[in-house]
Amino acid sequence: MSSTPPGERPRLSGSEANETGGSEPNETSAASGTESVPPAERSGPRSMGLGPASRKPVVRTTPFLGTLPPDDAPRVLDIRNVGKRFGDKVVLENVTFHLPIGEFLCLCGPNGAGKSTLLKAILGLIHPDTGTITISGLPVEKGRSKVGYVPQRKAFDRDFPASPIEVIVANLRGRWPLRIRDDERELAMAMLERTGATDIANSRMRDLSGGETQRVFLARALATKPELLILDEPTAGVDVGGRAAIIDLMAEISASDSIAAILVTHNLQAIARCAERVVYLEKTVKAWGLWSELSSERELTAIQIASGDHQAIQLDGD
Ligand SMILES: Nc1ncnc2c1ncn2[C@@H]1O[C@H](COP(=O)(O)OP(=O)(O)OP(=O)(O)O)[C@@H](O)[C@H]1O
Ligand SMILES: [Mg+2]
Repeated sequence: MSSTPPGERPRLSGSEANETGGSEPNETSAASGTESVPPAERSGPRSMGLGPASRKPVVRTTPFLGTLPPDDAPRVLDIRNVGKRFGDKVVLENVTFHLPIGEFLCLCGPNGAGKSTLLKAILGLIHPDTGTITISGLPVEKGRSKVGYVPQRKAFDRDFPASPIEVIVANLRGRWPLRIRDDERELAMAMLERTGATDIANSRMRDLSGGETQRVFLARALATKPELLILDEPTAGVDVGGRAAIIDLMAEISASDSIAAILVTHNLQAIARCAERVVYLEKTVKAWGLWSELSSERELTAIQIASGDHQAIQLDGD
Protein backbone atom coordinates (compact mmCIF):
# COMPACT_ATOMS: atom_id res chain seq x y z
CA MET A 1 0.00 0.00 0.00
CA SER A 2 1.41 3.37 -0.97
CA SER A 3 1.01 6.11 1.60
CA THR A 4 2.63 9.52 1.91
CA PRO A 5 2.25 11.70 4.99
CA PRO A 6 1.40 15.32 4.21
CA GLY A 7 4.47 17.44 3.68
CA GLU A 8 6.56 14.53 2.50
CA ARG A 9 7.29 13.96 -1.11
CA PRO A 10 6.07 10.75 -2.59
CA ARG A 11 8.31 8.64 -4.79
CA LEU A 12 7.98 9.81 -8.33
CA SER A 13 10.77 8.54 -10.52
CA GLY A 14 9.72 7.08 -13.83
CA SER A 15 10.54 3.54 -12.78
CA GLU A 16 8.74 3.91 -9.46
CA ALA A 17 5.77 5.38 -11.22
CA ASN A 18 5.78 2.36 -13.46
CA GLU A 19 5.99 0.05 -10.52
CA THR A 20 2.95 1.58 -8.90
CA GLY A 21 0.78 0.92 -11.91
CA GLY A 22 -2.07 -1.39 -11.05
CA SER A 23 -1.19 -1.46 -7.34
CA GLU A 24 -3.48 -0.68 -4.43
CA PRO A 25 -5.27 2.66 -4.10
CA ASN A 26 -3.45 5.58 -2.61
CA GLU A 27 -4.38 6.56 0.93
CA THR A 28 -2.49 9.83 0.93
CA SER A 29 -4.29 12.82 2.40
CA ALA A 30 -4.22 15.86 0.17
CA ALA A 31 -5.71 18.16 2.76
CA SER A 32 -5.27 17.30 6.36
CA GLY A 33 -3.65 13.94 6.74
CA THR A 34 -6.92 12.45 7.90
CA GLU A 35 -9.03 12.32 4.78
CA SER A 36 -8.76 9.71 2.15
CA VAL A 37 -8.15 10.92 -1.36
CA PRO A 38 -8.95 8.49 -4.10
CA PRO A 39 -6.28 7.54 -6.57
CA ALA A 40 -5.63 9.79 -9.48
CA GLU A 41 -7.43 8.58 -12.52
CA ARG A 42 -5.57 5.70 -14.09
CA SER A 43 -4.46 6.46 -17.54
CA GLY A 44 -3.46 4.04 -20.21
CA PRO A 45 0.08 3.63 -21.44
CA ARG A 46 1.27 6.66 -23.31
CA SER A 47 4.33 7.68 -25.21
CA MET A 48 4.59 11.45 -25.05
CA GLY A 49 8.00 12.02 -26.62
CA LEU A 50 9.05 14.07 -23.61
CA GLY A 51 12.32 12.37 -22.71
CA PRO A 52 13.48 9.00 -21.49
CA ALA A 53 10.76 8.64 -18.86
CA SER A 54 8.06 9.31 -21.41
CA ARG A 55 9.15 6.52 -23.70
CA LYS A 56 8.02 3.89 -21.24
CA PRO A 57 4.38 3.32 -20.49
CA VAL A 58 3.73 5.25 -17.30
CA VAL A 59 0.75 4.78 -15.07
CA ARG A 60 0.57 7.09 -12.08
CA THR A 61 -1.71 6.02 -9.31
CA THR A 62 -0.89 8.71 -6.76
CA PRO A 63 -1.06 12.48 -6.89
CA PHE A 64 2.26 14.24 -6.45
CA LEU A 65 2.22 15.96 -3.07
CA GLY A 66 5.10 18.26 -2.27
CA THR A 67 5.42 20.54 0.73
CA LEU A 68 1.88 21.37 1.77
CA PRO A 69 0.76 24.29 3.96
CA PRO A 70 1.02 23.64 7.69
CA ASP A 71 -2.12 21.83 8.73
CA ASP A 72 -2.91 24.31 11.50
CA ALA A 73 -2.49 27.45 9.34
CA PRO A 74 -5.81 29.35 9.19
CA ARG A 75 -7.48 28.75 5.84
CA VAL A 76 -9.14 31.26 3.59
CA LEU A 77 -10.37 28.49 1.29
CA ASP A 78 -11.05 24.86 2.01
CA ILE A 79 -12.11 22.52 -0.80
CA ARG A 80 -12.99 18.99 0.23
CA ASN A 81 -13.88 16.10 -2.03
CA VAL A 82 -15.63 18.33 -4.54
CA GLY A 83 -17.23 16.55 -7.47
CA LYS A 84 -19.22 17.87 -10.39
CA ARG A 85 -20.68 16.24 -13.44
CA PHE A 86 -22.50 17.69 -16.40
CA GLY A 87 -24.85 14.99 -17.66
CA ASP A 88 -22.76 11.85 -17.94
CA LYS A 89 -19.48 13.72 -17.98
CA VAL A 90 -17.52 13.85 -14.75
CA VAL A 91 -15.71 17.20 -14.74
CA LEU A 92 -14.45 17.33 -11.15
CA GLU A 93 -13.84 14.33 -8.94
CA ASN A 94 -12.80 14.39 -5.29
CA VAL A 95 -10.97 17.68 -5.57
CA THR A 96 -9.35 18.42 -2.22
CA PHE A 97 -6.92 21.19 -1.35
CA HIS A 98 -6.81 24.31 0.76
CA LEU A 99 -5.38 27.78 0.78
CA PRO A 100 -3.95 29.43 3.89
CA ILE A 101 -4.53 33.14 4.50
CA GLY A 102 -2.31 35.23 2.25
CA GLU A 103 -1.02 32.43 0.03
CA PHE A 104 -0.78 32.86 -3.75
CA LEU A 105 -1.71 29.65 -5.54
CA CYS A 106 -1.48 28.95 -9.25
CA LEU A 107 -4.11 26.58 -10.62
CA CYS A 108 -2.83 24.85 -13.74
CA GLY A 109 -4.04 22.08 -15.98
CA PRO A 110 -4.80 21.32 -19.61
CA ASN A 111 -7.84 22.61 -21.47
CA GLY A 112 -11.02 21.04 -20.19
CA ALA A 113 -9.39 20.05 -16.87
CA GLY A 114 -12.18 21.65 -14.85
CA LYS A 115 -10.34 24.79 -13.70
CA SER A 116 -13.08 27.28 -14.61
CA THR A 117 -15.73 24.92 -13.28
CA LEU A 118 -13.92 24.89 -9.94
CA LEU A 119 -13.66 28.70 -9.93
CA LYS A 120 -17.39 28.93 -10.63
CA ALA A 121 -18.06 26.65 -7.68
CA ILE A 122 -15.89 28.85 -5.43
CA LEU A 123 -17.79 31.92 -6.64
CA GLY A 124 -21.12 30.22 -5.98
CA LEU A 125 -22.12 30.30 -9.64
CA ILE A 126 -22.57 26.53 -9.78
CA HIS A 127 -23.18 23.99 -7.05
CA PRO A 128 -20.94 20.94 -6.67
CA ASP A 129 -22.71 17.58 -6.65
CA THR A 130 -20.53 16.34 -3.81
CA GLY A 131 -18.12 17.77 -1.27
CA THR A 132 -17.87 21.14 0.42
CA ILE A 133 -16.27 24.51 -0.18
CA THR A 134 -15.79 27.00 2.63
CA ILE A 135 -14.42 30.53 2.45
CA SER A 136 -12.89 31.71 5.73
CA GLY A 137 -14.91 29.00 7.43
CA LEU A 138 -18.20 30.10 5.86
CA PRO A 139 -20.28 28.35 3.21
CA VAL A 140 -19.87 29.86 -0.24
CA GLU A 141 -23.17 31.80 -0.14
CA LYS A 142 -21.97 33.73 2.90
CA GLY A 143 -18.23 33.75 2.22
CA ARG A 144 -18.24 34.91 -1.37
CA SER A 145 -18.41 38.59 -0.38
CA LYS A 146 -14.79 38.09 0.71
CA VAL A 147 -13.80 37.09 -2.83
CA GLY A 148 -12.59 39.49 -5.52
CA TYR A 149 -12.85 38.21 -9.08
CA VAL A 150 -10.94 39.18 -12.20
CA PRO A 151 -12.81 37.53 -15.07
CA GLN A 152 -11.35 36.43 -18.34
CA ARG A 153 -11.19 39.38 -20.66
CA LYS A 154 -13.45 37.71 -23.17
CA ALA A 155 -16.23 37.63 -20.57
CA PHE A 156 -16.53 41.43 -20.65
CA ASP A 157 -18.76 43.33 -23.05
CA ARG A 158 -16.19 45.64 -24.55
CA ASP A 159 -18.77 47.90 -26.15
CA PHE A 160 -20.13 48.98 -22.82
CA PRO A 161 -19.75 52.80 -22.66
CA ALA A 162 -18.55 53.03 -19.05
CA SER A 163 -15.44 54.52 -17.45
CA PRO A 164 -13.10 52.58 -15.14
CA ILE A 165 -14.25 54.66 -12.17
CA GLU A 166 -17.89 53.78 -12.89
CA VAL A 167 -17.01 50.09 -13.28
CA ILE A 168 -15.27 50.05 -9.89
CA VAL A 169 -18.01 51.94 -8.05
CA ALA A 170 -20.79 49.89 -9.65
CA ASN A 171 -19.14 46.72 -8.38
CA LEU A 172 -18.86 48.16 -4.87
CA ARG A 173 -22.50 49.21 -4.80
CA GLY A 174 -23.90 46.19 -6.60
CA ARG A 175 -25.79 48.49 -8.97
CA TRP A 176 -25.07 51.16 -11.52
CA PRO A 177 -24.14 54.52 -9.90
CA LEU A 178 -26.19 57.47 -11.17
CA ARG A 179 -23.96 59.82 -9.24
CA ILE A 180 -20.54 59.01 -7.82
CA ARG A 181 -19.77 60.34 -4.35
CA ASP A 182 -16.39 61.93 -3.57
CA ASP A 183 -15.38 59.13 -1.19
CA GLU A 184 -16.20 56.52 -3.85
CA ARG A 185 -14.18 58.39 -6.46
CA GLU A 186 -11.26 58.64 -4.03
CA LEU A 187 -11.31 54.92 -3.33
CA ALA A 188 -11.57 54.07 -7.03
CA MET A 189 -8.65 56.37 -7.82
CA ALA A 190 -6.55 54.85 -5.04
CA MET A 191 -7.14 51.38 -6.48
CA LEU A 192 -6.37 52.54 -10.01
CA GLU A 193 -3.18 54.08 -8.69
CA ARG A 194 -2.26 50.74 -7.14
CA THR A 195 -2.66 49.01 -10.50
CA GLY A 196 -0.92 51.81 -12.43
CA ALA A 197 -4.06 52.94 -14.24
CA THR A 198 -4.83 56.47 -12.99
CA ASP A 199 -4.24 57.97 -16.44
CA ILE A 200 -7.16 56.00 -17.87
CA ALA A 201 -9.57 56.56 -14.95
CA ASN A 202 -12.07 58.49 -17.07
CA SER A 203 -11.53 56.74 -20.39
CA ARG A 204 -14.14 54.51 -21.97
CA MET A 205 -13.66 50.84 -21.22
CA ARG A 206 -14.15 50.04 -24.89
CA ASP A 207 -11.12 52.14 -25.83
CA LEU A 208 -8.71 50.35 -23.50
CA SER A 209 -6.08 47.83 -24.51
CA GLY A 210 -6.19 44.29 -23.13
CA GLY A 211 -3.56 45.08 -20.50
CA GLU A 212 -5.33 48.30 -19.42
CA THR A 213 -8.64 46.46 -19.17
CA GLN A 214 -7.11 43.89 -16.88
CA ARG A 215 -5.59 46.61 -14.65
CA VAL A 216 -9.06 48.11 -14.26
CA PHE A 217 -10.55 44.73 -13.34
CA LEU A 218 -7.76 44.14 -10.87
CA ALA A 219 -8.46 47.57 -9.33
CA ARG A 220 -12.16 46.70 -9.26
CA ALA A 221 -11.48 43.45 -7.42
CA LEU A 222 -9.03 45.06 -4.96
CA ALA A 223 -11.52 47.83 -4.11
CA THR A 224 -13.72 45.28 -2.34
CA LYS A 225 -10.78 44.51 0.01
CA PRO A 226 -10.96 40.81 -0.68
CA GLU A 227 -9.44 38.10 1.46
CA LEU A 228 -9.27 35.93 -1.64
CA LEU A 229 -8.58 37.12 -5.16
CA ILE A 230 -9.50 34.92 -8.10
CA LEU A 231 -7.80 35.65 -11.41
CA ASP A 232 -8.88 33.71 -14.49
CA GLU A 233 -6.09 33.85 -17.08
CA PRO A 234 -5.49 37.59 -16.68
CA THR A 235 -2.60 37.66 -19.16
CA ALA A 236 -4.46 35.83 -21.93
CA GLY A 237 -4.82 37.96 -25.02
CA VAL A 238 -2.62 40.72 -23.59
CA ASP A 239 0.44 41.90 -25.50
CA VAL A 240 3.94 41.27 -24.17
CA GLY A 241 4.38 44.67 -22.49
CA GLY A 242 0.94 44.58 -20.87
CA ARG A 243 1.52 41.02 -19.76
CA ALA A 244 4.79 41.89 -18.01
CA ALA A 245 3.07 44.75 -16.15
CA ILE A 246 0.25 42.46 -14.98
CA ILE A 247 2.72 39.83 -13.84
CA ASP A 248 4.60 42.54 -11.89
CA LEU A 249 1.36 43.54 -10.20
CA MET A 250 0.46 39.97 -9.33
CA ALA A 251 3.95 39.38 -7.94
CA GLU A 252 3.39 42.40 -5.70
CA ILE A 253 0.09 40.94 -4.50
CA SER A 254 1.80 37.61 -3.96
CA ALA A 255 4.36 39.31 -1.71
CA SER A 256 1.59 40.80 0.43
CA ASP A 257 0.52 38.64 3.34
CA SER A 258 -3.04 39.85 3.58
CA ILE A 259 -4.50 38.74 0.25
CA ALA A 260 -4.68 35.13 -0.85
CA ALA A 261 -5.06 34.44 -4.55
CA ILE A 262 -5.86 31.72 -7.03
CA LEU A 263 -4.40 32.44 -10.43
CA VAL A 264 -5.45 30.27 -13.36
CA THR A 265 -2.75 30.51 -15.95
CA HIS A 266 -0.69 28.63 -18.50
CA ASN A 267 1.99 31.29 -18.34
CA LEU A 268 5.15 29.81 -16.89
CA GLN A 269 6.65 33.19 -16.12
CA ALA A 270 3.58 34.18 -14.13
CA ILE A 271 3.78 30.93 -12.18
CA ALA A 272 7.49 31.31 -11.49
CA ARG A 273 7.12 34.94 -10.32
CA CYS A 274 3.90 34.67 -8.33
CA ALA A 275 3.17 31.14 -7.17
CA GLU A 276 3.85 30.10 -3.62
CA ARG A 277 2.20 26.81 -4.39
CA VAL A 278 0.74 25.16 -7.45
CA VAL A 279 -2.20 22.83 -7.85
CA TYR A 280 -2.20 20.84 -11.06
CA LEU A 281 -5.75 19.82 -11.82
CA GLU A 282 -7.04 17.36 -14.31
CA LYS A 283 -10.50 16.46 -13.10
CA THR A 284 -8.85 15.70 -9.77
CA VAL A 285 -5.74 17.09 -8.06
CA LYS A 286 -2.79 15.50 -9.84
CA ALA A 287 -0.13 17.54 -8.08
CA TRP A 288 0.06 20.03 -5.22
CA GLY A 289 3.21 21.57 -3.86
CA LEU A 290 5.76 24.34 -4.14
CA TRP A 291 6.56 25.47 -7.64
CA SER A 292 10.23 24.73 -6.97
CA GLU A 293 9.23 21.12 -6.39
CA LEU A 294 6.89 20.82 -9.35
CA SER A 295 9.17 22.63 -11.75
CA SER A 296 12.16 20.42 -11.28
CA GLU A 297 12.61 18.64 -14.57
CA ARG A 298 11.64 15.23 -13.30
CA GLU A 299 8.46 16.39 -11.61
CA LEU A 300 7.35 18.52 -14.52
CA THR A 301 7.82 15.61 -16.88
CA ALA A 302 5.79 13.45 -14.54
CA ILE A 303 3.05 16.05 -14.37
CA GLN A 304 2.97 16.46 -18.11
CA ILE A 305 2.66 12.73 -18.52
CA ALA A 306 -0.07 12.65 -15.92
CA SER A 307 -1.95 15.38 -17.75
CA GLY A 308 -1.50 13.78 -21.12
CA ASP A 309 -0.94 17.27 -22.51
CA HIS A 310 2.60 18.52 -22.70
CA GLN A 311 1.35 21.81 -24.14
CA ALA A 312 -0.49 22.54 -20.93
CA ILE A 313 2.27 24.67 -19.49
CA GLN A 314 3.89 26.88 -22.05
CA LEU A 315 6.88 29.11 -21.81
CA ASP A 316 5.34 31.90 -23.76
CA GLY A 317 1.93 33.45 -23.54
CA ASP A 318 -1.32 31.80 -22.61
N1 LIG B 1 -22.30 24.09 -18.25
C1 LIG B 1 -21.67 23.05 -18.79
N2 LIG B 1 -22.37 22.05 -19.37
C2 LIG B 1 -21.75 20.96 -19.89
N3 LIG B 1 -20.41 20.79 -19.90
C3 LIG B 1 -19.66 21.76 -19.34
C4 LIG B 1 -20.25 22.94 -18.76
N4 LIG B 1 -19.25 23.71 -18.27
C5 LIG B 1 -18.11 23.05 -18.55
N5 LIG B 1 -18.35 21.89 -19.18
C6 LIG B 1 -17.32 20.91 -19.61
O1 LIG B 1 -16.54 20.61 -18.50
C7 LIG B 1 -15.20 20.41 -18.87
C8 LIG B 1 -14.30 21.31 -18.05
O2 LIG B 1 -14.53 22.63 -18.47
P1 LIG B 1 -13.77 23.86 -17.81
O3 LIG B 1 -14.24 25.09 -18.51
O4 LIG B 1 -13.94 23.82 -16.35
O5 LIG B 1 -12.24 23.52 -18.18
P2 LIG B 1 -10.95 24.43 -18.03
O6 LIG B 1 -9.95 23.64 -17.26
O7 LIG B 1 -11.32 25.76 -17.49
O8 LIG B 1 -10.44 24.53 -19.53
P3 LIG B 1 -9.72 25.77 -20.29
O9 LIG B 1 -8.26 25.68 -19.96
O10 LIG B 1 -9.98 25.45 -21.73
O11 LIG B 1 -10.36 27.06 -19.86
C9 LIG B 1 -15.13 20.68 -20.36
O12 LIG B 1 -15.15 19.45 -21.03
C10 LIG B 1 -16.39 21.47 -20.63
O13 LIG B 1 -16.85 21.24 -21.92
MG1 LIG C 1 -11.21 27.72 -18.19
